[in-house]
Amino acid sequence: MANPKHIAFILDGNGRWAARRGLPRNMGHREGVKAIEKTLLALCELQIPYASFFAFSTDNWKRSKEEVDGLFSLAEEYFEKGIDFFNEHNIKVQIFGDRSAFSPKLQTIMQNVCEKTAQNTGLNAGFCLNYGGREDIVQAVNKLIESGEKIVTKQLISANLYSKDYPDPDFVIRTSGEQRISNFMLWQMSYAELYFPKVLWPDFDKKHLIKSLKVFSKRKRRFGGY
Ligand code: FPP
Repeated sequence: MANPKHIAFILDGNGRWAARRGLPRNMGHREGVKAIEKTLLALCELQIPYASFFAFSTDNWKRSKEEVDGLFSLAEEYFEKGIDFFNEHNIKVQIFGDRSAFSPKLQTIMQNVCEKTAQNTGLNAGFCLNYGGREDIVQAVNKLIESGEKIVTKQLISANLYSKDYPDPDFVIRTSGEQRISNFMLWQMSYAELYFPKVLWPDFDKKHLIKSLKVFSKRKRRFGGY
């Protein structure tokens, strides 16, 4: 089977990666960012058109203030410094999730990275931050109510999700061996193939991606048929 068009990544295992080395959790997240960069390059090389990364869920606010603050300062640094990298590799960045909870500084940085990469025509990279699958469906329905729609259809919901410009993910990869969806892109992944490699996210690289694509290529997708 051909390569997937949209791979949705659930980035898991940063904390365990750090703990195994006696490092603070935020060091794991920092390594996680490096793994995102490596993966973006591999995705470009393999000409996968869409990828999304679950980087901060609506439930991650339950983590310690230190970890949450660390994640957001990492996000500021990454999206500010990353613009040259994204443009050099023709990557168009979008951010999916409710940004209103972020600091004004981070909101500006996010808007900037999206605007400055909007013309790129290579890989589409969607970063999901303060994102939840149920919340995504609710905000889509609320937009439809506000616009006066009387009847909701599947097409209208899809067209109002954060990832409206992306095809539904055909492949979901969650690293670290945990086998859960954790409220990620619930609507969009109805027919996605799921894969749970044991590798911790900071160790994920091109060879893991190639192995994952091999797994995908052996799956028989039936979409309810036979
Ligand atoms: C899950 O690992 C990872 C997260 C909740 C955060 C993922 C974030 C990054 C990779 C870096 C920040 C991203 C951007 C775009 C700046 P975990 O911490 O739950 O790991 P554990 O299950 O081993 O504890």
